[in-house]
Amino acid sequence: MTDSQPPTAASTTTAVGRFLDHVDASLADGSFVRVLLSHPTSTALELLRVEGRLIQLRGAPNLSLTLREARRDTTRNLALAEVRGWLAGELGTRFTASVLETVRKDWQLSLPPDKPARLVAHPPRSVTTPGRAHDRTRHGPFDASAQDWLEALGLTDSEGRPLPKRADKYRQILRYAEILGHLFADLHLTPGAPVRLADMGCGRGYLTFAAWQLLNRQLALPGQVVGIELRPELVTEAQAVVDRLGLGSLSFKAGSIADDASGPLDVLIALHACNTATDQALRRGVQRGARLILVAPCCHQELRPTLVHPELFAPILEHGLFAERLSEWLTDGLRTLALEAAGYRTKVIEFVGSEHTPKNLLLAGLRSGEDATSPRRTQARGQLEALKTYFGLGPLALESLLEP
Ligand SMILES: C[S@@+](CC[C@H](N)C(=O)[O-])C[C@H]1O[C@@H](n2cnc3c(N)ncnc32)[C@H](O)[C@@H]1O
Repeated sequence: MTDSQPPTAASTTTAVGRFLDHVDASLADGSFVRVLLSHPTSTALELLRVEGRLIQLRGAPNLSLTLREARRDTTRNLALAEVRGWLAGELGTRFTASVLETVRKDWQLSLPPDKPARLVAHPPRSVTTPGRAHDRTRHGPFDASAQDWLEALGLTDSEGRPLPKRADKYRQILRYAEILGHLFADLHLTPGAPVRLADMGCGRGYLTFAAWQLLNRQLALPGQVVGIELRPELVTEAQAVVDRLGLGSLSFKAGSIADDASGPLDVLIALHACNTATDQALRRGVQRGARLILVAPCCHQELRPTLVHPELFAPILEHGLFAERLSEWLTDGLRTLALEAAGYRTKVIEFVGSEHTPKNLLLAGLRSGEDATSPRRTQARGQLEALKTYFGLGPLALESLLEP
């Protein structure tokens, strides 16, 4: 079938066939926005996701594919006559979910291995087609659709070029989004199911927008994203950008992390929330049942005043700088143990190079589902207690994670 032929009777008998017909029809009548393939059949596969968008290449329309792997993106272009055959080969064999976005309707195809295939129509996310030029600006892990909020938050100019005075922040956001994208892949999010994400101590909301972009625009998941921030003036500014750009499922709320009492969560992030605000955020994440918790601790002030210098360490810890570094390192190490004891598998990731900021560690916890009495959780609790005893530490805010 060429891209301009109408659907055949045979092809419309299956969900995949009907989906392919909609792809063909939207490419033919110009209503196509993009197609996404996600949820690979095997987690062992390198390829995590594919996005296809329409471009003009040497005067002819092509589907430009961005193939996202764990550590890199590659691109490939298909002539329109090849699109149907290529999609038919990928759907169900390499990917179990796909979304076709058009300006009329969005079509969501689910191909779970153990259930019948389903094709569901949703109102369109985009009511206009994107530009078809070949060189639309990408921003690291973000596609060109991120341009509106990056510009509105003063990170890039209208051509998508990062503003020199914000270059460090821009790089930090891209790096963070790259890591968050990989952690989202670890969660195996269900196509079509809402994802509730809270960013606590969100400041101006740069990373809140980034999380919303990844979920809603790039993974085509209905992400409900909220930023919580103590300073009301920052909330007003960020919410004004949301309202101006019409980003419905993103919102900002003034308030303290400690007072947050909203319902269940899928993802909690708290980046550079000061001192023990990180522990409050971790506690909220655990209490609200977050499947992924991601924090970048900063200003470690709690532990140092009570740190006893064990005999062997005493000559080293005479140097204030070493005592300070050990306090930071120990606080974050104990946080990972507290998270493990609370039922999370943890990862420690370098956020940006230490030349940009020394506060560059991300602690990630993925809920393991292990019972509170499991050997790993019990062991982590014991290890935390042993370290506290060794360094003569009193009660710590991070222990709130261990409370029922
Ligand atoms: C260093 S900024 C980081 C902002 C943002 N997360 C980022 O990484 O760009 C820390 C923010 O956390 C906010 N904050 C600190 N403690 C808080 C608390 N207990 N509840 C809510 N916000 C808090 C501060 O007002 C500040 O805007």
